Amino acid sequence: MSPRKIIIDTDPGQDDAVAILLALASPELDVLGVTAVAGNVPLHLTERNARIVCELAGKPDTLVFAGCDTPLRRKLVTAEHVHGKTGLDGPQLPDPKMTLQDAHAVDFIIETLREEPSGTVTLCPLGPLTNIATAFQRAPDIVERVQEIVLMGGAYFQVGNITPAAEFNIYVDPDAAETVFKSGAPIVVMPLDVTHKALTTRARVEAFRDLGTEPGRMVAEWTDFFERFDKEKYGSEGAPLHDPCVIAYLLQPELFSGRHVNVEIETSSDLTLGMTVADWWGVTDRKANVTFIGDVDADGFFGLLTERIARL
Ligand code: BDR
Ligand code: CA
Repeated sequence: MSPRKIIIDTDPGQDDAVAILLALASPELDVLGVTAVAGNVPLHLTERNARIVCELAGKPDTLVFAGCDTPLRRKLVTAEHVHGKTGLDGPQLPDPKMTLQDAHAVDFIIETLREEPSGTVTLCPLGPLTNIATAFQRAPDIVERVQEIVLMGGAYFQVGNITPAAEFNIYVDPDAAETVFKSGAPIVVMPLDVTHKALTTRARVEAFRDLGTEPGRMVAEWTDFFERFDKEKYGSEGAPLHDPCVIAYLLQPELFSGRHVNVEIETSSDLTLGMTVADWWGVTDRKANVTFIGDVDADGFFGLLTERIARL
């Protein structure tokens, strides 16, 4: 079978970085491009971080594009308190040598979806949905050409992380999220409900370090850095490794389970802005628009991740 074509839309972020490494290490996937968006840190850092990670994976030929530097209608909210000043705080990182592509990420997404056969390109958003929504608004013809969108964002049982009611990626650009969730494209959502079941225990982090490779060491050191925030906040043994769940789902969907439900995005209330209102219990007659994942085989997930990072 030929590898599945994907575009990773991302705001690295240590967990984004691990997701990119997982994708680049996996022969089942053909990463057509990595498109950066503002999110965890501003765009000039996320595009730079994306290049650093591609080089770390030994794939400096990967196409990296810079996209939108602000949400559709709001001021950018960032998360240095979690990811550090650079977004990839933790280990010492070299300056990237590979260059950024000239084209805008949104143009790349539109052109790729128009050029590739319809139904053969999967979008993997790991940050705010600004690039994807902008592409859909500018070129509505591409929506039906998308094979699937598998994204990290939202929450139902976990409710929120950046506010009591909202998960970070959706909160940063709720208007973009609304556009994407209402687009009619097939969508799989990895909410906090599932990522909080994929926790980095000490043994799991040491397994990365014990690989004895540069990527293994980086993953362990990134994890050491960002997990301090969640451990303190939740009193948990480790931190959720959010974004790699998206790529793991493409590789081994049987590790995950969820429900096909309706999810709407709150875009106006000050109190609950960015909330993903998921009809998990089917109490409305609103049409199902996403597969909302609720559970993961965490040992299987970390086994896959470690085995793939070992290949780099
Ligand atoms: C999401 O927000 C970011 O901080 C992480 O990279 C992840 O994509 C989790 O809420
Ligand atoms: Ca992210």
